[in-house]
Amino acid sequence: MALDNITAFQFFGSVALGLVGFKIVSKLLPWAYVNIIGPALLGPKLNIRRMGGWAVITGCTDGIGKAYAKALAKQGFSLVLISRTLSKLEELAKEIENEYKVETKIIDVDFQSGVEIYDKIKARIEGLDIGVLVNNVGISYPHPEYFLDCYQQNPKFLLDIVAVNIHSVTHMCALVLPVMLNRKKGVIINLSSGAGSIPSALLTAYSATKAFVIKFSEDLQTEYRASGITVQCLKPGFVATKMSKIKKASFMIPTPDTYVASALRILGYTTTTAAYLPHEFIQIACAVMRYATCEPFVSNLFFKHLLSLRKRALSRASQKK
Ligand SMILES: NC(=O)c1ccc[n+]([C@@H]2O[C@H](COP(=O)([O-])OP(=O)(O)OC[C@H]3O[C@@H](n4cnc5c(N)ncnc54)[C@H](OP(=O)(O)O)[C@@H]3O)[C@@H](O)[C@H]2O)c1
Repeated sequence: MALDNITAFQFFGSVALGLVGFKIVSKLLPWAYVNIIGPALLGPKLNIRRMGGWAVITGCTDGIGKAYAKALAKQGFSLVLISRTLSKLEELAKEIENEYKVETKIIDVDFQSGVEIYDKIKARIEGLDIGVLVNNVGISYPHPEYFLDCYQQNPKFLLDIVAVNIHSVTHMCALVLPVMLNRKKGVIINLSSGAGSIPSALLTAYSATKAFVIKFSEDLQTEYRASGITVQCLKPGFVATKMSKIKKASFMIPTPDTYVASALRILGYTTTTAAYLPHEFIQIACAVMRYATCEPFVSNLFFKHLLSLRKRALSRASQKK
């Protein structure tokens, strides 16, 4: 009887271990393929250069957008450069034309304005064989803040963050997709953020707009995969840009150029990705923590961290006064 019990215990123990092992391996292998093995051993999954002659980039005069502009011009794309400040656009267009010998068009629009800006963009991109759209433009909080304080300090901020982070993505896709569908090929790269999938209290409105971008991108990919469209949704952690207010890059906080090179390397392997291994590891660690412990514990841990960043930002601001 005792032997039978031990045998049953061993049997069910082995089955349980086998199931857990299978679950881990079935997650780990595809992850390793799309993030490491595929890009390193097999190279690019798709030839982005064959998608069309033009690439469109929003929010292109700084940070990640500027890095995309240069990386795509280097590959021979002519560029539609869309951003807010005309003088910066003119300067960038001149720099890119001189360095990469490609054609550029500039469109100065403020994505915080009304939907009429999309008529202007539509008119300016008419007839171009657009192969790549990078929906990069985005705004965030000046520092982590309680939702109501954001609203009370600037009531228009909530409209602006939705207009820039969400409307720009959906409207630009609506303008460019028909061109891509006609030619049955195209790449759409949408900038979300790690904040869109990890707990981000005190960045509540920002992180919710970025969660929208993830959901939108994944369902858009499913709708148009069979029509030759590749959607990549990026969830970076910190990148050294004006938005993050981090000047010095490091292994954990890449320069925009390093980040974009990494994202282009894994284009086509998977839809939603941090696209930079150290950021991918942080997001996996967070997912494991949420799975292995209770959700409020993890949310609180991040909340406390963001509270300390808020405190530091507020004390710096009060010292400046
Ligand atoms: N940096 C990070 O750590 C990080 C992390 C996660 C996700 N992201 C996402 O990555 C994207 C790029 O971020 P970034 O750090 O490169 O930003 P950034 O350095 O602040 O650059 C933003 C660019 O967008 C333009 N822009 C801003 N507001 C605009 C508006 N209302 N209308 C038109 N253009 C506007 C800016 O032009 P002006 O110079 O004229 O203002 C600039 O060219 C964003 O979607 C962001 O949410 C960034």
